[in-house]
Amino acid sequence: MTKIAILGAGKAGTSLARVAVEAGYQVDIAASGSADRIGLIIEVLAPGAHPTTAAAAVEGAELVVLALPLHKFKRLDPSLLSGRIVLDIMNYWTPIDGEITEFDDAPEGTSVLVQRSIPGARVVKTLNHIGYHELEEQRRPPGSPDRVALGAVGDDREAVGEVLAFLEGIGFDAIDGGPLANGVAFQPGSPLFGAPSPAARFQELLAEELERARIAA
Ligand SMILES: NC(=O)c1ccc[n+]([C@@H]2O[C@H](COP(=O)([O-])OP(=O)(O)OC[C@H]3O[C@@H](n4cnc5c(N)ncnc54)[C@H](OP(=O)(O)O)[C@@H]3O)[C@@H](O)[C@H]2O)c1
Repeated sequence: MTKIAILGAGKAGTSLARVAVEAGYQVDIAASGSADRIGLIIEVLAPGAHPTTAAAAVEGAELVVLALPLHKFKRLDPSLLSGRIVLDIMNYWTPIDGEITEFDDAPEGTSVLVQRSIPGARVVKTLNHIGYHELEEQRRPPGSPDRVALGAVGDDREAVGEVLAFLEGIGFDAIDGGPLANGVAFQPGSPLFGAPSPAARFQELLAEELERARIAA
């Protein structure tokens, strides 16, 4: 069984844990402290997921999901993420993160900066552009006429392939959006953000948004 580690046991982390468990993945989930602190939350919100520490969650995981506030991610030990396929689902959201100059001025998107902070990791930006409620409500079996799409971008093409398979596995059409810098098209303010669309429409919006970003650069 494919093992997923989710770092962050809040709204996004627990909803992804629930969806992944239901899709047949083995899920370990951790917050900033000990496993005891999240045991009850996980039992209620993501039954079947295993609450643990970040270090134990990552051990043997094929995919590691960063589901914590962006301004806190540098507190993670980078050695935990080295060599791992890391799904960056974090958004720069000033009401939560405060003003961070580095992220204010990031024409290639925040995930490129995340990748630079953890050079040994294989960062893929994905799942940041769907709300935690929608993640659960919008999933559908393959071939459903109302199935919506999610995108993944990354410079490590093999890692992107693994993530696309995961997105399909949890109930979404999966779109390869190209290199990590294309992640700007998934960020808050983009038409793809928080507005799940069918695959063909997603592709159109992605192309338009990348063109707009190219002209603005
Ligand atoms: N909410 C959404 O719909 C949504 C959708 C897509 C993406 N996102 C993104 O996902 C991220 C999390 O959002 P959220 O809404 O889930 O936030 P949240 O509900 O506030 O949860 C944040 C979680 O991160 C954990 N955390 C903090 N520092 C940590 C560390 N060093 N190691 C491991 N876990 C740590 C917190 O645990 P402690 O209590 O122990 O600090 C908490 O469980 C954000 O970047 C957000 O932009 C959110």
